[in-house]
Amino acid sequence: MAERLQKIIAQAGVASRRAAEGLIRAGRVMVDGQVAVLGQQAERTQDIRVDGQPLGRAEQHVYFLLHKPVGYLSTAKDDRGRRTVLDLLPTVHERVYPVGRLDGDTSGLLLITNDGTLMNGLLHPHYEVQKTYVAQVTGQVTAAKLQKMATGLTLDDGPTAPAKVRLLGQAGGTTQVEVTIHEGRNRQVRRMFAAIGCDVRSLRRVRFAFLTLRGVPLGKYRPLSKQEVQRLYALAGLKQS
Ligand code: URA
Repeated sequence: MAERLQKIIAQAGVASRRAAEGLIRAGRVMVDGQVAVLGQQAERTQDIRVDGQPLGRAEQHVYFLLHKPVGYLSTAKDDRGRRTVLDLLPTVHERVYPVGRLDGDTSGLLLITNDGTLMNGLLHPHYEVQKTYVAQVTGQVTAAKLQKMATGLTLDDGPTAPAKVRLLGQAGGTTQVEVTIHEGRNRQVRRMFAAIGCDVRSLRRVRFAFLTLRGVPLGKYRPLSKQEVQRLYALAGLKQS
C-alpha cells in the first residue's frame, strides 16, 4: 500500500512528520535512488533513505519525561553547537526528539520520544492537551489583569483561548501565577504576560496532561509507564498498535 513518504519516515522514528517534510523539501530523502519530492507516496518495501541511511525496521518506541533545566534547547541538534535537551539523555540511543518545545529560558516537563504518531497526536490542536506553567513575574499582578488572561487576549498572531489562571502568592517583589493553556504557540505564556504588562522572571512547566514532575529532579528523566503511554494515546485520540 502506497503511503505518504513523511508518514513512513515518522513511523520509522527518524523525525516527526513535520520534520520529515522538511527533510524531503531539503532533498535529503531518496526513494529507490531518486531524490524524493514533497507529496510523493511510497511503499514501505521500497529503498527509502534519509541522508543516505536506509530507514530500516522501525525502532522500538521509547518514552521519557524530562525535567528540563534552563539553558537547553528543545531541538535534537543545534548548528551552533549549543546544548540541547538530548544532551541530558546520554544513554538513550534511539533517535528521540522532544514533543513540542520549551524555550531555552523555560524549565520543566518535556516529553521525549521516537513515536512520531503519538507526538503528532499530542500536538494536534484538536485534542486540547492541557499544559500548566508556573510563572514568577515582576511586581504586583492585579486580579483584573489576570482576569484578562483568563478570558483570552489578542496577541500579534491572533486571539488566545481562555486560560485557567491562579494566583499562587507574592513575595520579594514578585508574584507567582499558575497558568493552564491548551495551545502551544511560540513563547505564548510569556507573550500573554507581556500583553497584560507583566515581565516574566522565570517560567516552569509543571504539568503536561496528567503528568507532573513529581519524583524527577531538575536535569533528570524517567521512562513513562505502559499505563501512562496508553493514557496519552487515548488523549490524542489514537489506538496503540
Ligand atoms: N510559553 C512560553 O512562553 N514559553 C515556553 O517555553 C512554553 C510556553
